[in-house]
Amino acid sequence: MHITVIGVGHVGLVSAAAFARWGHEVVGYDDDPRKIDTLRSGRAWFHEPGLDDLMRAQVEAGRLTFTGDPDAAFADAEVVFVCVGTPPLPGGGPNLSFVEAVGRSVVEHARRDTLLVEKSTVPANTGKRLEQVIARESKRLGNGNRIEVASNPEFLKEGAAVQDTLHPDRIVYGTSSAWGRDVLREVYAPLVEQDQVPVVETDVATAELIKHASNAFLATRISFINAVAQICDRVGADVSVVAEGMGHDVRIGHRFLQAGLGYGGSCFPKDVDAFAHLAAQVGYDFQLLEEVRRINVGQRHWVMAKLEQELWHLDGKTVAVLGAAFKPGTDDLRESPAVHLAKELVDAGAEVRVHDPVALDNLAREQPQLPGYPEVEDALDGAHAAVVATDWPEYTALPATTFQERLAYPILIDARNVYDPDAMLDAGLHYHALGRRSIDTRPV
Ligand code: UDX
Repeated sequence: MHITVIGVGHVGLVSAAAFARWGHEVVGYDDDPRKIDTLRSGRAWFHEPGLDDLMRAQVEAGRLTFTGDPDAAFADAEVVFVCVGTPPLPGGGPNLSFVEAVGRSVVEHARRDTLLVEKSTVPANTGKRLEQVIARESKRLGNGNRIEVASNPEFLKEGAAVQDTLHPDRIVYGTSSAWGRDVLREVYAPLVEQDQVPVVETDVATAELIKHASNAFLATRISFINAVAQICDRVGADVSVVAEGMGHDVRIGHRFLQAGLGYGGSCFPKDVDAFAHLAAQVGYDFQLLEEVRRINVGQRHWVMAKLEQELWHLDGKTVAVLGAAFKPGTDDLRESPAVHLAKELVDAGAEVRVHDPVALDNLAREQPQLPGYPEVEDALDGAHAAVVATDWPEYTALPATTFQERLAYPILIDARNVYDPDAMLDAGLHYHALGRRSIDTRPV
């Protein structure tokens, strides 16, 4: 099939490369010429394991091209995937103006019947608004082609995006006609035949809602276990063992029960807000989601409180923050709890030193007030305390002696619960975990 992907961010670029791998002819379009130039030179413009190789193989096979020219992008397209950003607005809802712009653009440039598929995460009923835009523009411009809207949410995780896209847990799409459904069946046929992936075929609003409900539910699990961690801290229990014990119940499962500094990234914070906003718009007060957000933000305040407990005043103290990315395996800093924490430390008067294995270039660009340290040891040398803010394997591998020898005071806040508490405490560190054995709760 001839597929066009609008927006070459995480979702768009990985999807485009995957569609090409399944044998389709794919054009990636973006209005940012720098991104197109980088992609044409054979590299992704962000860090994502395995993506450069996948992309290059498809470009070399002649199935994947990139353009910044909308005429060239839409000319042959039978299916257009909308993968543009939906950044949060101050009121909590997402900014859908980029999605609307694609709706107008497709009418202006489409030369054949086109299925316009939302892949960006959008609130339920965005499809209806898009259909309205398309109907008005088609009339205005006299475009008689059939242009129909569908929803096909993407569930990929950054850092595992290639694997998630090539081997998804499920495919969800919502369409409003048998034609739209058949087009999407054809797009995914190679994957379904190869992997027997479960497919959920539904209407557009239901597909849109599946995405928001999934992300809000996962964020709720994380906040739930973080609230449990608070209780564990107070009663001297170990949240990681509580999570393990809960997870053996097949109805609960083990994943997304890792307590720590909370969730970040371009999806969970935005989607929790957007889902609460949509609920309010349709007359339901989804207070659970407000609480999920409150618990999430509370986790970094908890770390600040532990630092103050140890260091008294943060003003004039130096704190090494290990990790800047919102999770390991990515250089993405969007809504990163590590960055939020580092900024709160600066606001409290502390000098921060931020280490990250891959995100320091982005940090220098996006948060120039936060000094980046390419070597962990340099970040630790002479600092009054260290906080593990992102669970990079590089930090898990650090022995207690590195902290002992480098830090001015041997204070370690393990805000991602990556170390064995006993090993850290036995080494003489003032070790604080979140909801696990710490210097405060160790039995005498
Ligand atoms: C998420 C969804 O998982 C994915 O399905 C959707 O398409 C986009 O949003 P992503 O933001 O890439 O993906 O990261 P994810 O791995 O889900 O982690 C999100 C945040 O939650 C990270 O900050 C991570 O550190 C945190 N997290 C995750 C926890 O704090 N505890 C956990 O148990 C799991």
